[in-house]
Formats: sequence, structure tokens, C-alpha cells
Amino acid sequence: MATTITITGAGGQIGYALLFRIAAGDMLGPDEKVRLRLLEIPQGVKAAEGAALELHDGAFDLLESVEVTDDAATGFDGCNLALLVGARPRGPGMERGDLLAANAGIFGPQGQTIAARAAADVRVTVVGNPANTNALIAAASADGVPADRFSALTRLDENRARAQVAAALDAPVSGIRRVSIWGNHSATQFPDLAHATVDGRPVLDALGERMDDVRGWLEETFIPRVAKRGAEIIEVRGSSSVASAANAAIEHTRDWVAGTDDWTSAGVVSRGEYGVPAGLVSSFPVRAVGGQWQIVEGLELDDWARARIDTSVAELVEEREAVRALGVL
Ligand code: NAD
Ligand code: LMR
Repeated sequence: MATTITITGAGGQIGYALLFRIAAGDMLGPDEKVRLRLLEIPQGVKAAEGAALELHDGAFDLLESVEVTDDAATGFDGCNLALLVGARPRGPGMERGDLLAANAGIFGPQGQTIAARAAADVRVTVVGNPANTNALIAAASADGVPADRFSALTRLDENRARAQVAAALDAPVSGIRRVSIWGNHSATQFPDLAHATVDGRPVLDALGERMDDVRGWLEETFIPRVAKRGAEIIEVRGSSSVASAANAAIEHTRDWVAGTDDWTSAGVVSRGEYGVPAGLVSSFPVRAVGGQWQIVEGLELDDWARARIDTSVAELVEEREAVRALGVL
């Protein structure tokens, strides 16, 4: 048996950082063969073909086949997993509404084609920005595919948050667990440490031993650092995060398929949990069980946390309204 994986935007930067790790077994483990479908637009086909040549030269034991195409029906045919990376980037003078419109024109048809052509067990990880709303559009366009088969990447935000906590505590990142990302993959997101642990102890207690004003550090340093890390990378590197984003997409998809022993964060379709309007794709703390994300329920939220979640969710509502105004939903 082999898993067929479609990667859109495979000729781009994140695509290049994803393909070789998937072929090496980092996503589905050392026993699962993979068939890769590299879906591009015509301008990106050459770059994807170049990556395919290098995949060939990698002589990966697990790699059964590689196919490059600019035809979505061929690209999604029979796929079990799809990583939707290809998206229209924000150009000079483009407003958020323009970006939503351009991406609605990509993720709507892709959702339809996934419904028509993908395997019955398809799972779709949306990476291309605005990831939450692109996932919402794709899910809403995929008639007959359960909406919970679509999720948006916020694992990068979680990893960034864990790394910031590890640095503040001078502790290994491996011991930092249960950091929750709520809301949108944007600067309004709420990285939440209320339930986070370091080697099993509450992170907030450990921080309190090192600083007088933990709330001040959260508000002035930690939250903006995590929420604006994408912009910081763009400023320093000159283009947006690539390897860390690909790593997060691999971890997200791996956990979705294989299951988690603790919780992580992902953008999933709300059914009204924590007051997030049903149908929005919002980040929540989640577990993966039997190939399905399950929102961690019953967490206490104080007024401060509630207000931050509400702000980010309000942005998601606005994005949904803007997409509805285009007649897409
Ligand atoms: P990139 O420009 O290097 O690559 C994008 C590729 O997508 C290009 O090769 C382009 O030809 C292709 N593409 C465009 N429209 C397509 C379509 N309709 N079908 C198939 N392919 C298409 O960009 P990148 O650095 O790889 O980033 C890709 C996306 O990921 C961007 O939207 C970026 O903002 C987003 N991103 C998300 C996260 C996250 O955590 N969710 C993190 C980093 C980047
Ligand atoms: C990131 O978080 O690195 C990406 O979503 C890029 C961006 O625009 O922030």
C-alpha cells in the first residue's frame, strides 16, 4: 500500500522544503510508501519538474512515484492527503479583501476538485494564507466531503510559542507542552500559556519564579513576538518562513494521521466550541484520535483570555463576511 499525497504550490519555497522530507518518511513514517503529486500553475511547472528530478536522484526507498501537473483533476485524483500550499501572495497595493478574493478563486475550485476526484479518506492541510479562511472556502466548496477533513496550519505558531517559552525558562523545548493557539493564523492570534507545562509543572509558575510581572511579559513580549513572528522572519530573511513552515505542516499532518498522545493546536471547523461561531475555521487546542481532530473541551478561560480570543475570532468573522460578499460561500 502507498499513500497518495498532493502538494499544491510544489514548485515554490515551502514545496521544496516539504517534498524531500515527505519522501524520506518524516511525515508518514519509515514503513509507508508515498506517491507524490506536484500540482502547480503553468508558471510553476518548471520549478516543480526540477524538484521532481531531484527527488528521483534522491533514490528514496519510500518514494513510489512523482507526477507533476498543472491540471487540478489529475493532481487530486485519488489523493489521500492534500497539502494546499500554493496561494496568491499579497502584492503591492493589495488590500486584505483583494487577497481574499484572489485566494477564493484558488481554494474554491480546489475544494470542488477534491470533492470530485480525491479518495474517500482524503484529509486536507491548508498552509497557503490566509490559511483559516482558505480552509473554510475549500471545505465549503467540497460538497460531500465532511468539513472536518479540512484543517489549517497553526502548528508553526505553536512551535514558535514553545520555543519562546523554552528560551525564557532556559529549558529544553521538548519539555514544553500544552501551549494553545486560539483564533486566526494572523497577528490577532492568542498564544495561550494558561495550561502549558514545563516538565509537567505549570509554565506560568515557572515564569513567576523568574520574573515579577508575568502578565506584563505575556502582553508586551511573548504574545506580540509569537503573533508577529511571520513578519519578523520576512523582515530579516527577505521572504516568508519556509523550512519552519514546512516542518510544522509535516508535524500537523503526521499527528492528524497517526494521532497525538497530548494536545497540539490546529485550525479546525468550529461547531460552536468556546463560543466560536459554528462553521468558522479557528485554531483551538486539539487532540488527534483515530484520524480526527478533537477540540480539547472544558478549559477555563478568564476574561483576559476570552477578550483576546474574541478579537481574533472577530477577524475570522470579518474574513468570512468579505468572502460571502464575493458570493463564494
Ligand atoms: P512561494 O511563492 O515560494 O510558492 C507558492 C507556489 O504556489 C508558487 O510556485 C506558485 O506558482 C504556486 N501556486 C500559486 N497558485 C497556485 C494554484 N492555484 N495551484 C497550484 N499552485 C499554485 O510561496 P511559499 O513561501 O511556498 O508560501 C506558500 C504559502 O504559504 C503563502 O501563502 C504563505 O503566506 C503561506 N505560509 C503559511 C504559513 C502558515 O503557518 N500557515 C507559514 C508560512 C507561509
Ligand atoms: C508565517 O507565519 O511565517 C507566514 O504565515 C507568513 C506571514 O505572512 O506571516
